[in-house]
Amino acid sequence: MPSGRFITFEGGEGSGKTTQARLLGDALRARGLEPLLTREPGGSPFAEQVRNLVLDPATAQHSALSEALLFYAARADHVEKVIRPALVSGRWVISDRFSDSTRVYQVEVGGLPLDVFKALELIVVKLTYPDMTLILDVPAEVGLTRATTRRLARAIAGEDADAYEKRDLEFHERLRQGFLAIAEAEPRRCKVIDGTQPPEKVAAEVWAYVEHRMLPPETR
Ligand SMILES: Nc1ncnc2c1ncn2[C@@H]1O[C@H](COP(=O)(O)OP(=O)(O)O)[C@@H](O)[C@H]1O
Ligand SMILES: [Mg+2]
Repeated sequence: MPSGRFITFEGGEGSGKTTQARLLGDALRARGLEPLLTREPGGSPFAEQVRNLVLDPATAQHSALSEALLFYAARADHVEKVIRPALVSGRWVISDRFSDSTRVYQVEVGGLPLDVFKALELIVVKLTYPDMTLILDVPAEVGLTRATTRRLARAIAGEDADAYEKRDLEFHERLRQGFLAIAEAEPRRCKVIDGTQPPEKVAAEVWAYVEHRMLPPETR
């Protein structure tokens, strides 16, 4: 059985990752595949527990290293228990965020040394590196406005904003530049897509790229 493909969506808050991961899942299902949709932080029971800890605004202050180690503990479990078994059984896996997010948040913004990140990535991700990463790019104001709208909806529902969403415009712009730098460094894996277009246009661009790069001609 052929091994499945591993696709990740990356980008700042409000860039459309969750929306597009779902739409790509729909498009693959329409082609008769049964993709596994997952997310980070989280994606397995243990990793979801770590997610709750890290994203809880009440969690005590801690260093970028502590945070990266927590994320990698979660990722190790997610890869071992969820992603790897699915790929081995031939399923495609779509993850809403993966290791590039740790690189951007903890290295580019948080100041974690790049070699520490690379060591963790090598230990944990190893052969389960994404085949393709779609980076949704939106100006900081756009992402922030979308995330704020979502936050307001949560506030009305009585839920608190998570720790990452509480940051500001300058922070969003640094995230954006961090993701673009990864795309520039790894053009074979990463594709930057203009996330300011309407969702269905973004989805069409994602699909055209996935189809071109990953589906054999006879199944298109
Ligand atoms: N292309 C788009 N244009 C306009 N609004 C969008 C678009 N994609 C998503 N949204 C909306 O913006 C908000 C954030 O989208 P979401 O997919 O949750 O982003 P992310 O997962 O990257 O934070 C949601 O309210 C969503 O409906
Ligand atoms: Mg999301």
